[in-house]
Amino acid sequence: MTDGEKKLRVGVILGGMSSEREVSLNSGRNVYDNLDRERFDPLPVFMDGGGRLWILPWKLVSQNTTVDIEERLEGEARRIAYDDLGEVVDFAFIALHGKYGDDGCIQGLLEILGIPYTGSGVLASAIGMDKEVQQRLLAASGIKVPVSVVVSEKEWIADEEGVAEKLASKFGFPLVTKPVREGSSVGVTIVHAFDEICEGMKAAFTWDRKVLVEEYLRGIEFSSIVIEDVDGPRPLAVTEIRPHSAFFTYDDKYMPGKCRKFTPPKSIPAEAVETIKQEVVRAYRSLGFRCYGRIDGFYLESGDVYITDPNSSSGMAPSSFFFEQAAEAGMLPSEIISRLIDIALSIHGEKRGPL
Ligand SMILES: Nc1ncnc2c1ncn2[C@@H]1O[C@H](COP(=O)(O)OP(=O)(O)OP(=O)(O)O)[C@@H](O)[C@H]1O
Ligand SMILES: [Mg+2]
Repeated sequence: MTDGEKKLRVGVILGGMSSEREVSLNSGRNVYDNLDRERFDPLPVFMDGGGRLWILPWKLVSQNTTVDIEERLEGEARRIAYDDLGEVVDFAFIALHGKYGDDGCIQGLLEILGIPYTGSGVLASAIGMDKEVQQRLLAASGIKVPVSVVVSEKEWIADEEGVAEKLASKFGFPLVTKPVREGSSVGVTIVHAFDEICEGMKAAFTWDRKVLVEEYLRGIEFSSIVIEDVDGPRPLAVTEIRPHSAFFTYDDKYMPGKCRKFTPPKSIPAEAVETIKQEVVRAYRSLGFRCYGRIDGFYLESGDVYITDPNSSSGMAPSSFFFEQAAEAGMLPSEIISRLIDIALSIHGEKRGPL
């Protein structure tokens, strides 16, 4: 940047309306702290539980919870109408997660406002949130996904016992129940016996009207951040996940010191890591992700690589896969954040319409 050139005003959007708003606060403040001040003018933009936007004074960014922030909004933050966002920011770094955050909703709003933003467009973000649709698309591209069925709340309520029997005979135990559209393991249950099916279904129905019931995969779980450059999408690295709990739960994901992560993997053979790298890029392309994404899956003893959870965004706390893998690839947090913004700007420049 030369003297006199104006810095890009980057609004870091954090908080939001989803079950993952606390995760978003952690992501957003870390991005805010690490934005390169030589190139960017960062502005924290808080989305409250009702979807309203507020410009936060920087000291509120370090509050412990979104509730603590919400209590101080009226007195200390500045409410901003959607219409006016483009007057205070040139670019949106979306640090929101979950519903309304990485499912195409905020992306649609930013498209209408003409503000470039990080991550995938409207359609791919919506696909990245919907486990039913993404499994169909992945399978159509020849990518291995777990056997699954979708149960609607209507079907379930009409005949709980009958549906449970069908699920038990199709999958055996354990089986996995999850909301079709959620993240951070919210509403996910590993069901070990017939009389636990009801509890698993109900936990998932708390978050969505459709539940995905899946075969349980016995293998090593992995996660890979895929990021684009001029040559197309590439994995930053692959991380092997060794959960502390029976599976990779919300606490495992976010409580310091709970789960072990190995980047590069410890127990996955090197050739299999190469296969994983190919499969995560294939998954990324087949869902139309742009800018970056995080693709999760399992490596099975048979050598098969399954993709279970492609995400169009990823947590950005200091110990997240995103920064752990960036470090493995030799990049500081500020460098990978700058790169993401540069990629997003170049993608935005090529767009014809909102996709
Ligand atoms: N088919 C499966 N077999 C075995 N374990 C599974 C299966 N599906 C999910 N799990 C476990 O449950 C966790 C959460 O499931 P999943 O990744 O589908 O949910 P998510 O809420 O979208 O997570 P994320 O925060 O990564 O977006 C996984 O990390 C894994 O440990
Ligand atoms: Mg997910």
